[in-house]
Amino acid sequence: MAPPAVGADGTAAVQRWSWWLRVVTLFTEPVHAKRSVRAPPDPVLTQRLVLTPVGPDDVDDLILLYGDPVVAHWSGPWTRAAVQGWAATMATRWTVDGVGKWMARDRSDGSLVGRGGFTRIDLDGETVLELGWAVRDARTGRGYATELGRAALAWAVEHRPDLPVAAFTEVHNRASRAVMERLGMRPAGIIRRAGLVEGRAGVQPDAPFALYRL
Ligand SMILES: CC(C)(COP(=O)(O)OP(=O)(O)OC[C@H]1O[C@@H](n2cnc3c(N)ncnc32)[C@H](O)[C@@H]1OP(=O)(O)O)[C@@H](O)C(=O)NCCC(=O)NCCS
Repeated sequence: MAPPAVGADGTAAVQRWSWWLRVVTLFTEPVHAKRSVRAPPDPVLTQRLVLTPVGPDDVDDLILLYGDPVVAHWSGPWTRAAVQGWAATMATRWTVDGVGKWMARDRSDGSLVGRGGFTRIDLDGETVLELGWAVRDARTGRGYATELGRAALAWAVEHRPDLPVAAFTEVHNRASRAVMERLGMRPAGIIRRAGLVEGRAGVQPDAPFALYRL
């Protein structure tokens, strides 16, 4: 759109120009507000980990992680296409919601430790930040999930204090529950969703999950 021509009366021309600017702003502001696209935030550093927003470049590392037997037991099995889809969704979540899961790598050598952090979800009508984690089988039992969880909680206080934090896992996932408890989260009841049931084979549609809140 061309700006209005400058007339003999300079003041009137400036007024007309600023009127045009207001019109343009009126039409463009809602478009930007609706899109609300933001750049993924900077990596988060913990004592031993570097946390980076999950994106399409992480597919190979995610396939390694989800291929570990214990991780696969609780969160798999995953096909390559499913991992690609999840990584793409996470990249979108970061740009649209401003929050998502991180990859966790060793600060000292960049080796893969796991993934974790938040997903903004609707939990029975309430918008919450769901906190989760998965650590490579060979690196469990060394406090990595707790370290990641602690960093995530600190990040949420700074970046998303408006949203409550919740975490949930199958009632018999004792390692994951132990992490929630070490982070100071409290049991908040049982919810039902698709998952594992102790003593039964395969994913059940209404498995009991232990819900924790801060
Ligand atoms: C759950 C998981 C992320 C924990 O990772 P981690 O780095 O080993 O966790 P941490 O070392 O920070 O803490 C592990 C805690 O679980 C406890 N734990 C480990 N295995 C356990 C078990 N079988 N039963 C009870 N507690 C167990 C550890 O003792 C420790 O607690 P403590 O320090 O109070 O003793 C990891 O086991 C994993 O990736 N599991 C598969 C994926 C998964 O289940 N993700 C959660 C889905 S909601």
